[in-house]
Amino acid sequence: MTDILVVEATESDLPLILRAERLDGYDAVVGRWDEVRHRLALADKKYRYFLAKDGNEVVGFAIVRDWASPDRVSLIKRIAMLKPGQGYGSRFLQSVLDRIFNETDVHRVWLGVFPENVRARRAYLAAGFVPEGIARGSAYFGGSYRDELVMAVLRTEWDAAGS
Ligand SMILES: CC(C)(COP(=O)(O)OP(=O)(O)OC[C@H]1O[C@@H](n2cnc3c(N)ncnc32)[C@H](O)[C@@H]1OP(=O)(O)O)[C@@H](O)C(=O)NCCC(=O)NCCS
Repeated sequence: MTDILVVEATESDLPLILRAERLDGYDAVVGRWDEVRHRLALADKKYRYFLAKDGNEVVGFAIVRDWASPDRVSLIKRIAMLKPGQGYGSRFLQSVLDRIFNETDVHRVWLGVFPENVRARRAYLAAGFVPEGIARGSAYFGGSYRDELVMAVLRTEWDAAGS
């Protein structure tokens, strides 16, 4: 398998990001913003946008929130691959984790996933995320409050994995 290259996204990548959020079936599993909301986040130091590239081809994106936060906790706010189920997502996440742990003094990186999203859960496990428990009603999504499985990686675990 080729290496996944991780690069920071810019406003010119928004059409692709908007498209990735809106792929068939994604409305049930991942949040989406309009372009205005994305532009606000891109201009906000709290957020970092990353693209996954396989050669010259962009294969997905991720948004990190609470980048370099004083609390030393960051959130993978969103991730979507343009070609799911091909091994890109887990490798991309590992590289995004490397960026976060190498470039900030964060102690914990976490995310929330709908428990029934088995593909995402497996990708997160493969990237080193540890399931911690169900946060009840933690996501207001599509007009209702949905439970989320919280998964996280601590710096000690990332260190131990030899990254
Ligand atoms: C979640 C997501 C980013 C993961 O990226 P990916 O490239 O699909 O993940 P990978 O291919 O690296 O790994 C997928 C894992 O699920 C398994 N898998 C693949 N298709 C599957 C399916 N339809 N159902 C269940 N498991 C599946 C794979 O075997 C792999 O598990 P393994 O490593 O134990 O073999 C991507 O699927 C995606 O964008 N999904 C839609 C949006 C989404 O759910 N975002 C996350 C919201 S929390």
